[in-house]
Amino acid sequence: MSYAIIGFGKIGQALAKAFARKNIEVAIASRRPPEALAPQARAIGPKVVAKSLRDALEADTIILAVPFGEHREVAKALPNWKGKTVIDAMNALIPLEEMDGLLSSAFVAKAFTGAKFVKGFNHLIAATLAADPIVEGGHRVVFLSGDDEDAIAPVATLAKQLGFAPVRLGKLNEGGALVHARGRTWGQLIFQDLFKKEQ
Ligand SMILES: NC(=O)c1ccc[n+]([C@@H]2O[C@H](COP(=O)([O-])OP(=O)(O)OC[C@H]3O[C@@H](n4cnc5c(N)ncnc54)[C@H](OP(=O)(O)O)[C@@H]3O)[C@@H](O)[C@H]2O)c1
Repeated sequence: MSYAIIGFGKIGQALAKAFARKNIEVAIASRRPPEALAPQARAIGPKVVAKSLRDALEADTIILAVPFGEHREVAKALPNWKGKTVIDAMNALIPLEEMDGLLSSAFVAKAFTGAKFVKGFNHLIAATLAADPIVEGGHRVVFLSGDDEDAIAPVATLAKQLGFAPVRLGKLNEGGALVHARGRTWGQLIFQDLFKKEQ
């Protein structure tokens, strides 16, 4: 598997730290050229590699960590997303009418035609996501949801490799709705900092 994080702000860097902690290679990209991102990437870890957006999108698994409104720009960078897994770590605080009445990930998924689409890593604040997920003898929980069960499995494996305890919430409009913003209201599981004790 190869991984890329698109967006290298608070959430992108928090996720890059999680990959670096486990020595898993990850590409990072934003609108800025790789040379501009490279010093910060290297400071996080030798396997955090700054790339152009185009090169980063060669990864199999792509995490969206850009402001919600920018997802369309990222989506346009590939003619189609077949064969890619896209993990939506974004939150959207915009009126539901602007998303055709859909939950934000269902709305975003429409732009990434053909991708295996999973909502995840969006419910923790950046500082918590950046910290070691092993806490009090347990693992910090990340919630995963999506309409394609097969797409969630490899993302759950990644979450475990990064040290998190993945908790599946089911389809986006069922359990997944708990980690979405609806208009100006947060889903009940957003910003819940939970951890799962070893059994
Ligand atoms: N901050 C949190 O605690 C938190 C928690 C959960 C979820 N989230 C969600 O995570 C997402 C990112 O939030 P953030 O706080 O990390 O924002 P941020 O610090 O402003 O970072 C956004 C990043 O996206 C890049 N970017 C913007 N437009 C882009 C484009 N078209 N193509 C590629 N890269 C682009 C920016 O870099 P350039 O300007 O160089 O392009 C920047 O690196 C948001 O959707 C937010 O709702 C944030």
